[in-house]
Amino acid sequence: MVRKAKPDLSVSIGNLKLKNPVMVASGTFGYAEEFRDFIDLKKLGAIVTKTITIKGRQGNLAPRTCETPAGMLNSIGLENPGIDKFIKEKLPFLKKLAIPIIVSIASEESPEEFAILVKQLDLIDEVSAIELNISCPNLQKDKLISQDASDTFKLVSVVRKITQKCLITKLSPNVTSICEIAQSAKDAGTDALALINTLGGMSIDVNKRIPKLGAWVGGLSGPAIRPVAVKMVWEVYNKIKIPIIGMGGIMDTESALEFFIAGATAVSVGTANFINPQASLEIIGGLNQYMTDNDIGNLSGIIGRLKTCKN
Ligand SMILES: Cc1cc2nc3c(=O)[nH]c(=O)nc-3n(C[C@H](O)[C@H](O)[C@H](O)COP(=O)(O)O)c2cc1C
Repeated sequence: MVRKAKPDLSVSIGNLKLKNPVMVASGTFGYAEEFRDFIDLKKLGAIVTKTITIKGRQGNLAPRTCETPAGMLNSIGLENPGIDKFIKEKLPFLKKLAIPIIVSIASEESPEEFAILVKQLDLIDEVSAIELNISCPNLQKDKLISQDASDTFKLVSVVRKITQKCLITKLSPNVTSICEIAQSAKDAGTDALALINTLGGMSIDVNKRIPKLGAWVGGLSGPAIRPVAVKMVWEVYNKIKIPIIGMGGIMDTESALEFFIAGATAVSVGTANFINPQASLEIIGGLNQYMTDNDIGNLSGIIGRLKTCKN
């Protein structure tokens, strides 16, 4: 019997090289150290950190999470220690893992703060890529940067001039046209898009007649949002030629495959980490198996390979 070659799971996103295309999503994996006893971190394709801001933030009022049908709502509000503490206290552990580290950053105050953060991170060799979180729904703002094509263009243009590191722009599904925003991020020079952040949502305790979240509203994640995310990945893949990191309700190999077939180059596992910290490693194993079973040598045999009546 001829033994089939092991499938090649490696992918490139700009100058970021991943040994496999499965990462963990920002805000659902802390700074990885929290998960060290539950999963072999070195096997991950990459780790995306909790979003960092210049100054530390305490986040929103509790309760900050609640369960919803097929998902969860969160209103964490970007709780984080701030960039200096992150570099001093969190980064040393991440550096030792010797896998790509993607640092997620945001600012509530001004776009200039993104530039300050990028300048600092650009100096650190072990930071493999920077993810611009311009789509956090849990800030007290009327409009997100990623809800406006021109604001998105301006912000990405500013940070693009500062760093050669791989730049990923994370977009919000809470928009009329995801392709319009995606195009503006691409035109401004982003290397890749992360699709999608959470969908705006609200849950009410009917007995107390109060919102279940302390911040009243939050972001919906988990399997409930998967079809929305898959559609957005598919739309952007078809209209705009740029690598996409797909996420939104990925729980297992089958759900990850939906994203690859829709056009994602890599995927991020989020809410699933709270239920099964091994989910991302199981997906890596499952992808290997799927590719072996279907005689697919590398991921280009799956990415964007949706069959329609036209092909
Ligand atoms: C508790 C929680 C905290 C999150 N915090 C962040 C964050 O700090 N930065 C960010 O870009 N996305 C954050 N997200 C969004 C996720 O990274 C991801 O985009 C979203 O949850 C969809 O993926 P999922 O359905 O697999 O969770 C958070 C999500 C959850 C559930």
